[in-house]
Amino acid sequence: MSAPRGEFSSRFGFILAAAGSAVGLGNIWGFPTQTASNGGAAFLLMYLVLTFSLAYPALMAELIIGRYAKANAVTALRSIANSTASRLFGSIAGYAGIITASLILSFYSIVAGWMIAFFLAPLLELAGFLKPAIWLTEFGTFRNLLFAGIFSSLTVVIINGGVKDGIEKWSSRLMPALLIILLILIAYVLTLEGAMDGVRAFLLPDFSKAIDLPLIVSALGQAFFSLSLGVGTMLIYGSYISKKENLSTLGGYVTLVDISIALLAGMLVMPAIYVAQANGVEIFNSNGQLIAEDTLIFTVLPALFDTMGHTGLFISFAFFLLMTIAALTSSISMLEVPVSYAVENHGMPRNKATLLSSTIIGVISIIIILNFSSLFGFVIALTTQYSQPLLGLAFCIFGGWIWSRNNILQELKQGFAGAENSLFWKIWPFYIRYICPAGILAVFIQLILS
Ligand code: PHE
Repeated sequence: MSAPRGEFSSRFGFILAAAGSAVGLGNIWGFPTQTASNGGAAFLLMYLVLTFSLAYPALMAELIIGRYAKANAVTALRSIANSTASRLFGSIAGYAGIITASLILSFYSIVAGWMIAFFLAPLLELAGFLKPAIWLTEFGTFRNLLFAGIFSSLTVVIINGGVKDGIEKWSSRLMPALLIILLILIAYVLTLEGAMDGVRAFLLPDFSKAIDLPLIVSALGQAFFSLSLGVGTMLIYGSYISKKENLSTLGGYVTLVDISIALLAGMLVMPAIYVAQANGVEIFNSNGQLIAEDTLIFTVLPALFDTMGHTGLFISFAFFLLMTIAALTSSISMLEVPVSYAVENHGMPRNKATLLSSTIIGVISIIIILNFSSLFGFVIALTTQYSQPLLGLAFCIFGGWIWSRNNILQELKQGFAGAENSLFWKIWPFYIRYICPAGILAVFIQLILS
């Protein structure tokens, strides 16, 4: 019943697409703001440790399972199950992944919509339309609905194009653009007064905070969210990789790009906060902590841009354009999760599957916008703090306990003949069986107890 499957045309195409999924608001907003509120470099250090030790192995589990099964998460997990119980477990984890990816997209579109509004605002201001420009940057239900709708439409258009002509083509265009804008912004901000204080706060760790438990919980959540883990996104991208490619290297590249962009974003946002202070903007709250989260992005940074006159308009435009691009290459990977399932398991044509999935997700976005104060934070916490780590755990259990070691090795050997004697194969099976589940569980229990 299934339609012919798409495949990335090249190694580079896959890396850009998967890195595009990984690099998103999580890197450019989440990482710097979490760093700001969690002891600067102490958080950075913990984040790096957890990304290499837990998130990269979990990413590899998804990529290997996906390429082996050449299918969406529901079918893939069922196909490696070895008993009725594990088949049921596979179905539940697969469906829970589809629901989680859809819920993440429903709040992600709202936030990404704000980014579009914020990058259009300076353009209107330059053109002399002050009132509409102010409207764009003020919180309002109609604005939220309109821009979430615009952002979702962009996502739909790209996903409708398929794997090669949609996901790969647009990731290959947008990711280099993202890098260029990011580098230009960093180069500019680092020349400004106060920037070096931000660099110090970002890179010099306060070790007394590095073993703080809440910090570890946040760092693990950030690492999983940033690598798009636990919802079947990386599994489905893995299923589009050719059997000729070396999976452990590809996964390594994606992880490195993701970390590098997060670090670069930190080198932009942290210095910018201290430049804002040098320009007279309040950057600490009443408890003496750095102002973080949405207040940082939508109040502190715009206040900084305001102090820069006309240059500030260009900087503001570039910064929010950067955010929009980052969000778009991630949102397409989220939408691909339900779409690939509908196409493969229900024989739906791609355009119909895209329309149906995005309509359902759009309705959820509308419900969240209309009940913003009660639902927005709730859906974010539910999906990123609970669902993603638990589903990540499920993928580790499949990779470490349910799927036979020999089959995994056979899959890895495709595109990597020497897999059996590699360092990766010496470490990874142990990691995915013991270290990752134990690490995720420990952090999860800590979250429940707190
Ligand atoms: N990794 C994306 C980010 O950093 C978010 C994401 C989560 C994308 C889950 C796909 C799936 O913003």
